[in-house]
Amino acid sequence: MEFSGSVQQNIKTFLITSCKGGVGKSTVAANIAMAVANHGKRVLLVDCDFSNRSLDLILGCEEDVMYDICDLVTGRATAARTVMQDSREARLNFIAAPHFKRDDFTPEQFAEAVMSAAKEYFCEYVFIDTPGAVDGTLQLVAKAADGALIVTSHQPTTVRGAEKTGYQLEDLGVKEQYLVINRYDKKSVLDGTSPGLNWLIDHTHVPLIGVIPDSKDLEKAQIAGKLACELRRDRQKVRDAFDEVARRICGERIPIMSYLPEKKRRKLLYS
Ligand SMILES: Nc1ncnc2c1ncn2[C@@H]1O[C@H](COP(=O)(O)OP(=O)(O)O)[C@@H](O)[C@H]1O
Ligand SMILES: [Mg+2]
Repeated sequence: MEFSGSVQQNIKTFLITSCKGGVGKSTVAANIAMAVANHGKRVLLVDCDFSNRSLDLILGCEEDVMYDICDLVTGRATAARTVMQDSREARLNFIAAPHFKRDDFTPEQFAEAVMSAAKEYFCEYVFIDTPGAVDGTLQLVAKAADGALIVTSHQPTTVRGAEKTGYQLEDLGVKEQYLVINRYDKKSVLDGTSPGLNWLIDHTHVPLIGVIPDSKDLEKAQIAGKLACELRRDRQKVRDAFDEVARRICGERIPIMSYLPEKKRRKLLYS
């Protein structure tokens, strides 16, 4: 498999993408980045959603953003000015998106700028929040990526979008792909109104890396700029779900939905 130059530097870069808006890309990107950082790894999280910048809000740092990824790629600002350190977890570094993308740059310029910022901040993992291929951003950032996390929900239109994204990524040379099922509602799977895991895997042809429950607590926390890791102890299933994906990204071998009791887990795996 051909990677785009980051392997020798020991930096692993993942796009977090999907064809559809609103499936939870930014939520998944921010929480997985935090979970990997909580796991002891230095992380760079980059917002490349040029039409709907939102990671600054999700991280709760919107007031502090001065420069963005376009400033970095075009050389208007250095990495020292552009990269922000998370106030909760020093290993999590963040580059915001501009409100509007006015600059033109090439995939090579983008990849070089992101890789050099990741090196400067000693990051081992880079996560890039990227909308689907429609506005051309996927094509712009794919060169920087070693792999992709494709986010989907139960919705058939989203599942179709995830399959399509997989093919588009493959055409762009991003062959290492993983599926994240977000807003998973186990009740609707058990009563047959939503498709189960096997159906979702079969219909996307992408291997599963994690299942994130639908969580009202997470949604509420997000409004206050809080992440899953800040939820109360008795509301932590969603935090454990992100943690599970982070551990798998870091190379641990753990079962899917390890955060559920074994009997429940097995029932859901086969439904
Ligand atoms: N696992 C989840 N449980 C509950 N709400 C979620 C979950 N993931 C995302 N959301 C909510 O869905 C909405 C869209 O999420 P967002 O991450 O902005 O999607 P995208 O980046 O794909 O457009 C937000 O209001 C967010 O709080
Ligand atoms: Mg988003």
